[in-house]
Amino acid sequence: MSFTAPIQLPGLTLDPLWHRRSVFYQVMVRSFVDSNGDGNGDLAGLISRLDYLQWLGVDALWIPPFFTSPLRDGGYDVADYKSILPEFGTLDEFRDLVTKAHERNMRVIIDLPLNHTSDQHEWFQQSRTDPDGPYGDFYVWSDSDEKYPNIRIIFTDYEESNWAFDSERRQFYFHRFFSHQPDLNFDNPAVHDAVFDIVRFWLDLGVDGFRLDAIPYLYESDEGNGEGEPKTHEFLKKLRAMVDRDYPGRIMIAEANQWPREVAAFLGTEEEPECHMAFDFPVMPRIFYSLRSQNAKELVQVLSETTDIPEGAGWGVFLRNHDELTLEMVSEEYRQAMYGWYAYDPRMRVNVGIRRRLAPLLDNSRDELELAHALLFSLPGSPFIYYGDEIGMGDNIWLDDRDASRTPMQWTPDRNAGFSTADPGKLYLPVVQSLVYNYTQTNVESQLAQSRSLLHWVRNVIHVRKAHPVFGLGSIHVLETSHESVLAFVRSYEGAGTQFGDPAEDVLCVFSFAHNPISVTIRADDLAGASLVDLFGGSEFPAFDDSGSLTLTLGTQSFFWLHIGSH
Ligand code: BGC
Repeated sequence: MSFTAPIQLPGLTLDPLWHRRSVFYQVMVRSFVDSNGDGNGDLAGLISRLDYLQWLGVDALWIPPFFTSPLRDGGYDVADYKSILPEFGTLDEFRDLVTKAHERNMRVIIDLPLNHTSDQHEWFQQSRTDPDGPYGDFYVWSDSDEKYPNIRIIFTDYEESNWAFDSERRQFYFHRFFSHQPDLNFDNPAVHDAVFDIVRFWLDLGVDGFRLDAIPYLYESDEGNGEGEPKTHEFLKKLRAMVDRDYPGRIMIAEANQWPREVAAFLGTEEEPECHMAFDFPVMPRIFYSLRSQNAKELVQVLSETTDIPEGAGWGVFLRNHDELTLEMVSEEYRQAMYGWYAYDPRMRVNVGIRRRLAPLLDNSRDELELAHALLFSLPGSPFIYYGDEIGMGDNIWLDDRDASRTPMQWTPDRNAGFSTADPGKLYLPVVQSLVYNYTQTNVESQLAQSRSLLHWVRNVIHVRKAHPVFGLGSIHVLETSHESVLAFVRSYEGAGTQFGDPAEDVLCVFSFAHNPISVTIRADDLAGASLVDLFGGSEFPAFDDSGSLTLTLGTQSFFWLHIGSH
């Protein structure tokens, strides 16, 4: 496989809003490329595929934890925040990754699980054995396991309590996730110092920002539910102030699986900003709901709600990631409907969600895959692609927990899908060999050779998006339509008088969730007489009439992105 030679840029473009223009790609080091045949992906392997990612149009990588860890939670159980798991590589290789990404004008975001550590972390070992020592108060200890009864359990399939007993210290410790992941005690100022030190360590190494894992859960209180407590927001303001002061241009992204208003709170206010971005957890399940219900009303509602966010802040839009497709942010009725559509086999469920990849969720329907991506790339916010979804990789629901969708990247039809030269039995997880998604058919090389493959389609849509800054920077206005299956909105951008010269533009986006062709009338008084041109092929479309009405026909599960001309 070869890709066009990368254009060497002197360094990163100095754009304070880079995160709002970027297309992000989530890549797990362990799953991408194994450079030394030990069965695990590694940093050198990832470096070797930066050309591929650049060819695809990726502007920023999000790399889940690669620190020293017993890997009992995919690396989110950190045993040492300043060293790299030897199977994955060395700090020098990480530096090399950052340099080579930056040469391609690609940013690197790393994941920081700060809420908890592994029970193997030295801090925890000292905390259990030496309660009066320097780490004695680093974790949340209690003589009772009945404290904080308002705090829900997140890993409902694995844990019965948020407390576990430590036989050494003879006390209970608090854990929001697995019992081998004790929560750090943010009430202890020494924990703040330790966390700031870690943040500085990686920023000094050149990373462009952090995904702040499980960020709502830093503090607990007797009155609250342990999610977005006021002190958690105070801590984030302090962290942001330090990053802005000492490392301008680097960003913080909140992983806050919360209702709209609560997620927005993690972006802070104009005067007291917190994160630069937050993942849009409320929108994501509603995309999947609309696809099967053939009804756009849930999306219309969530997109019409105005949530004020500070200037410069933005959303991270995603379809799938390394976790289950969480259904925590939908009503019980909708959750049951979604289990029925998307997780008809109980093996497909985990906790309050569905452990499947995008293509199997959408039954490998090309129409649905295109429609879902068209939403991903035009909703307000920056899109995050999960590795392998650009080729429609499958999953393996016979593997445990979320490993179902963390299998090796499928590069070629050769041994181990070109991921590794190891003996197949040695791989950290087997490659997907299912009937429909077998790596001999679903792989990068085959899709490169086929001009109409999903991979080429995704690459094209990424490039169209990037040619229109309105998608990253513009506002949204949802329009009235005559058909319940149709979502229509206008993205508008006034243009910036900056050195980046972003043009002003208005784009009409129309999506049909209907499982048959339909005709729809869209109303927008202020668009009376507006001409329309397709962003992909440049064809002229019928204009809005003088009363501000437009009638379109849409094929099964299809969409249009139309440039709005003079009116
Ligand atoms: C990560 C999960 C992880 C959990 C506990 C999450 O929010 O995305 O993969 O299991 O944090 O660390």
